[in-house]
Order: sequence, then C-alpha cells, then structure tokens
Amino acid sequence: MEHEQQRNLTADVLTLPIIEGSLLKMSSLIAQSFLNDPLVISAKQSLLAALKQHQQSIDGIRPPDQERAQSYEETIAAFNQVRGGNLYFPYLGSGIGRGSLVELEDGSVKYDFINGIGVHHFGHSHPQLIEAAIEAALGDTIMQGNLQQNKASYTFSRRLVDAANANGARFDHCFLTSTGVMAGENALKIAMQKKHPANRVIAFERCFAGRTMTFSQITDKPGFRAGLPVNLTVDYVPFYDEQRPEESTRASIKALKSHLQRYPGQHAAMVFELIQGEGGFYTAPPEFHRALMETCQENNVAVLVDEVQTFSRTTELFAFQYLGLDDMVDLVWLGKASQVCATLFRKDYAPKPGLLSQTFTASSTAIAAGSVILDELLTGGYFGTDGKIAAFHEHFKNHLEAIDERNPGLIAGPWGLGAMVAFTPFQGDAAKAGALTKALYNNGVMGFVAGGQPTRLRFLLPVGGVELKDIDEVAKIIEQTLVSMAD
Ligand SMILES: Cc1ncc(COP(=O)(O)O)c(C=O)c1O
Repeated sequence: MEHEQQRNLTADVLTLPIIEGSLLKMSSLIAQSFLNDPLVISAKQSLLAALKQHQQSIDGIRPPDQERAQSYEETIAAFNQVRGGNLYFPYLGSGIGRGSLVELEDGSVKYDFINGIGVHHFGHSHPQLIEAAIEAALGDTIMQGNLQQNKASYTFSRRLVDAANANGARFDHCFLTSTGVMAGENALKIAMQKKHPANRVIAFERCFAGRTMTFSQITDKPGFRAGLPVNLTVDYVPFYDEQRPEESTRASIKALKSHLQRYPGQHAAMVFELIQGEGGFYTAPPEFHRALMETCQENNVAVLVDEVQTFSRTTELFAFQYLGLDDMVDLVWLGKASQVCATLFRKDYAPKPGLLSQTFTASSTAIAAGSVILDELLTGGYFGTDGKIAAFHEHFKNHLEAIDERNPGLIAGPWGLGAMVAFTPFQGDAAKAGALTKALYNNGVMGFVAGGQPTRLRFLLPVGGVELKDIDEVAKIIEQTLVSMAD
C-alpha cells in the first residue's frame, strides 16, 4: 500500500523542465511504471540486500589464497601475453569490494588507494552506484550516443554546467564523451577553430594531457611520443616551484611572453593542468595561474583547463573554483571520477557544425553512475574547508608527517591537495619508489608512482568509499613497508 502511494507521487505526476514556468500534469511513461513496478523494486531490494550481506565478509586485507595462486599466475601471464605488455600490478579484480577494500581473483583483499588512477572515486561496490547501474541495465540500450540519447544525458550535462557556473563562471554548453583525452581533443578543436589560423599551443613542463596522437605532443614526456609524427607544435612554460615562489612565477611569465613574442599571433591556446597529477602532485597558488591566464587573454590565447584528474578532488568541485579562477577559464574538461567525460564551453566558442560528433558518449550505466556521484558530491558534505575531502586529506597528511618524524630521512612531503596525496620515498629514487609500490601492493595497499626526478608515490582517495579508519590501516602498512625496505 505504501508502495502504491509512493508510486503515484513519483511516477504519475511529472514536470517538464523544458517548458518554462509551467507544470504540466502527465500520465506516467511506461518506462517509469516499469521501474516503479513493485516486482522491480523488490528485486532490486533483494539484490542490494544480498550485496550488503556478502560485503560483510570484506572487513580487512587478506593474503592470496594459496590454492588459487597457480591458476592466478597463469591467467596473469596469459593476459600479459594477449594484451602485448605486462600489467603494472598483477591485478585481476573478482568483481566485489567494500568501500576502499577490493577482492581480487586470487582471493586476496587489498586497500585500493589509487582506484584505477582516480576513476573509482566512490570505492568498490558502492550500493548507490550498484542501484543506479541496475536501473541503467534495465534500460533499453547499453550505450548512449550522439544520434539517440536518453534524458539522463541531458540531466547530467545540465547539472555539470550549473555546478561549474556556481561561483561565477559562464559556461553555456557541455559535450559528453567517453575518455578524458577525447574531452581534451574536443576542447582543443573548439579553441583552434575559433582562433584559426593560430595553430601553436602552450603547456606546462612536466604536464600530462593524454596519449592520442595530438595530445602526446602536449604531454611533456618524450618517451610517450617516441616515433610519432609531430602534428602539433607545443611551447613549454615551467610550472610553479614552491621552493622559489616569486622567482619561479617571474620565470614562467617570462617564458610565456617570450613564446608569444617569438611567434606573434600564432598561439591558439594554453593548456593549464592546475595541479600536476601524473607529473607528481605539484600545486601552485592562484596568483601564479592568474598571472599566466591574464597574459594569455591579453594576447588572444584561449585559456584551457584540464580537470581530468583534479575534478572533485580539491575542496571544491573544480580546481579552478578552488583557485578562484572562475572568471579566467574559457574551456574546461573533466573525466575519471565523473565516469563520463565532458567538455564545457561558452557560446562564444560554439563550434561550427561537423566539428564535434561521435557514435557513443558512454554506457547508460556510466551516465547513471556519474549522475549519482555528482549529486552525492554536491549534497553530501564533501567540499569546503570542513568537508569530508579536507578531513581525509588532513588525516592522511598527519599520518605521513608522523611517519616522517618517527623515521627521519625515509620520506619527504607529503604533497598534494584534497583527495590527491603523495610523498617522496627514498630521496625520490625511481627504482626504489617502484619497488616500494610493488611491496605495498603485496602487503595489501595499492598506490602508484608519479613524476620522474624525484619519483613520488601517490594516492587518489576514493572519497565516497573511504573511512578515517581505512586511512589509519593504510598508514600502518605504509610505515611497516618503508621500514622493512630501508637500508
Ligand atoms: C590531467 C589528465 N589529462 C588527461 C588524461 C587522460 O585521460 P584518459 O586516460 O581518460 O584519456 C589524464 C589521465 O590520467 C590526466 O591525468
């Protein structure tokens, strides 16, 4: 009976947001009646109850099951062979987890503090995401795309634009896509079309932007573009150096101005990775970015911000909001945590027909999960100086500082911001940092290296799935592992 009443409320009376100011009464769609059918609701409840029950067995790290060891190793070897290169970790997930803990096919349970390099922002087997995924799986198609999309694509895009504009930015449009680098490609295409015939790009030294043919030219790693033709000319500006704040800011502005003078009118855009992710979690204050952005604007160079890694990891939804750069950004793109990637731009940058299109944007599940994540992030107390992200950061940072105090010389740092936390082990030696990452994996904690010289060990916290006590456990394992590897 209660179900019936609820159903009448949610399904039978709906509003049409498209028709301004009017509330139209409509009868329920078949799709809504289906999702609100007591049979569907109770099946969903049963699935979620079973999930909860089985998750209870995931209550801490666990070593691999010896009986599975041989077949696990064989599968990993076969996988390495078929993919044509070794996996970084011998990781094969079993398909279930609980928050920051995940079960692997070898029966082990580990803390996942890297989350597919920031994709599983709400951890493993999050009940709300599973619920959204079940509903999406009951939808009519697996994929959503350019020619035919369901309403969820619209709602997600609208919410992203509104959230990005919350502090004064003025984005009008959102174009969805399936990978971070493709969202970046779309942004760059839009900017280059607008600034044509300017065709050079500026980026930060040590930046990471992705690995398509074009973005391999922007990513500042020679090894990542070895053998590729140069299809984009990129000029580099050094990033902020916290050891030399004023001097490095002056040096970066000088480098930018000298590129602009050497090739007058030839730069279409500058790509800002506001907090360097793959480069090693390097941060810069707002004045640094603002000074460079102002120089770009004075010289008709579009200000492009890559938030693929930073989105929802600072104490604001976007890093440009955290840094108060809302008035400076022309285009921004995001990915990873959002599940669906997106490019946001103003109407004065609107591309000509034909520039952007693609067969599919993402799976229905990714869009449904992305919508839940966005809602939860915006309403669940994650942001602000007293929000969950700040609290997780502080807790982890305190632990790392205490480890440093107890074991002088083993680590430096911590570095990073919000859900991005890193430290430099063993004076930044690349081989030792790699060995530490693997040893931590074997001891039940997944992190990942970043940067080159020095090499850092970084963590991307699953903010929607982690608890303070998980951070306590992880810190304990980090300290034990570090000490066991010290000379
Ligand atoms: C800053 C930044 N930009 C772009 C990308 C590329 O994203 P994707 O791998 O989803 O294409 C990444 C991925 O790590 C990133 O960190």
